[in-house]
Amino acid sequence: MNNTVTPPDQEPERQHYFIGKLKEWVDDFYSEFKRKPTAFVCTFGCQMNARDSEKLRGILLQAGYETAEGEEADLVVYNTCTVRENANLKVYGRLGVLNGYKKKNPNMKIALCGCMMQEEEVVSKIQKSYPFVDLIFGTHNLYKFAELLFIALNNNEMTVETWDDSTAIVEELPKKRKYSFKSGVNIMFGCNNFCSYCIVPYVRGREKSRYPIDIIREIEKLASDGVKEIMLLGQNVNSYGKTLDGQPTFAQLLYDINKIDGLERIRFMTSHPKDLSDELIYAMAECDKVCDHLHLPLQSGSSRLLQDMNRHYDKEKYLSLVDKIRNVMPDISLTTDIIVGYPGESEEDFLETMDVVKRVRYDSAFTFIYSKRTKTPAAEKPDQIPEAIVHDRFDRLLDTVQKIGREQTARFTGRIMNVLVEEENQKENGLVTGRLTNNFVVHLPGNKSDIGHTIPVKLDECKGFYYLGSRIDGN
Ligand code: 5AD
Ligand code: SF4
Repeated sequence: MNNTVTPPDQEPERQHYFIGKLKEWVDDFYSEFKRKPTAFVCTFGCQMNARDSEKLRGILLQAGYETAEGEEADLVVYNTCTVRENANLKVYGRLGVLNGYKKKNPNMKIALCGCMMQEEEVVSKIQKSYPFVDLIFGTHNLYKFAELLFIALNNNEMTVETWDDSTAIVEELPKKRKYSFKSGVNIMFGCNNFCSYCIVPYVRGREKSRYPIDIIREIEKLASDGVKEIMLLGQNVNSYGKTLDGQPTFAQLLYDINKIDGLERIRFMTSHPKDLSDELIYAMAECDKVCDHLHLPLQSGSSRLLQDMNRHYDKEKYLSLVDKIRNVMPDISLTTDIIVGYPGESEEDFLETMDVVKRVRYDSAFTFIYSKRTKTPAAEKPDQIPEAIVHDRFDRLLDTVQKIGREQTARFTGRIMNVLVEEENQKENGLVTGRLTNNFVVHLPGNKSDIGHTIPVKLDECKGFYYLGSRIDGN
């Protein structure tokens, strides 16, 4: 080991240097224990975190760690979420269990990262009540994982490094994809919208976009590596490009990505209704690779609450946007996010939400009970809704969402549609499971060799939220 070499200041070169240092550490571990160290990265929360975990795994793999399937490992990383309080509670609960493992394996290291670590109170609580944690870092310095882990491995104290925000985007580091045939691709980071209930702008920082050329190069590389489906990731992809020179739009980006050879499907997440332009609707319709699916968070059907939530649209504007989208793309699958029990929500407000659900007829919806988040304006509001009322509304909403979802899903019965096969069926031998471009799940006869292939399938029977299909490719 050459200790006289100083680490480069430039990124990503600096992190490659520290991956080298980790490799040396792994070699020493191997000499001592006659086995490689194992690592388990556990993801909480959204697709953004799932992608971040692939970056963490890529670094660990390159450093020589072996993948562990559970928490009995030499290194456990929890990539946390804080969008609702129960996400935080889950992490605290599991930390207790980790402490037990650490007592059995004193060389074990525990690292925590992700959105929850961007909250000062969380970090203080961990320092005070969970002193066995070895490393804490945040969302803005995730790319420094190799360096931070190397410091933590050589430090008996807890290593803590979180940043309030950052303008740097460092992407050229190893990644270990969960699926060979599909991948997330970050196109932007952060959020500037400050919806009144949401903690994301406080923990993910200000909006910043990647340059189209960098995104396209990454996708071209993925496509040449066999990736057929990509999910473009951002908190609000419709405002993509606003921070860049020349202000490229998300629609222009879609047209460019649509030209990439080998790529079959383009998905994106998430769209804010206030920024969904006509240009984007036409781009979705014209680009054959863009999937027939739009996730368009409603949050509430009450114009009064939408204004209080700082959403910048009202019930009528949302409904007319849905009409416009369906006029251009009649088969599109629409999904949404809805919050129940926002402070001050009256029965009338709730019925407005139910009305939108019945009129739009979503294919599926994520329904959430409002959760009070630190720093957010909604948390300060006096008229928080009693739990019993919220649960009653939540149950009524879920019933309606599920009933409509089942009816909507059945609308393609009898059609022949392409399924991208994702995995062997978990429950039944001889079946594989995949998705239509509208994101509906289909089970069909097949085996492992079908994974990653697109197969035309007749949708024989709808079983509620999924289809049973038969192959028409002769296999
Ligand atoms: N309480 C409940 N749900 C929330 N979401 C965001 N913040 C909160 C909160 N404080 C939901 C929104 C968002 C989704 C990702 O999480 O519906 O679209
Ligand atoms: Fe949160 Fe609103 Fe930003 Fe979505 S758009 S991440 S709900 S603040």
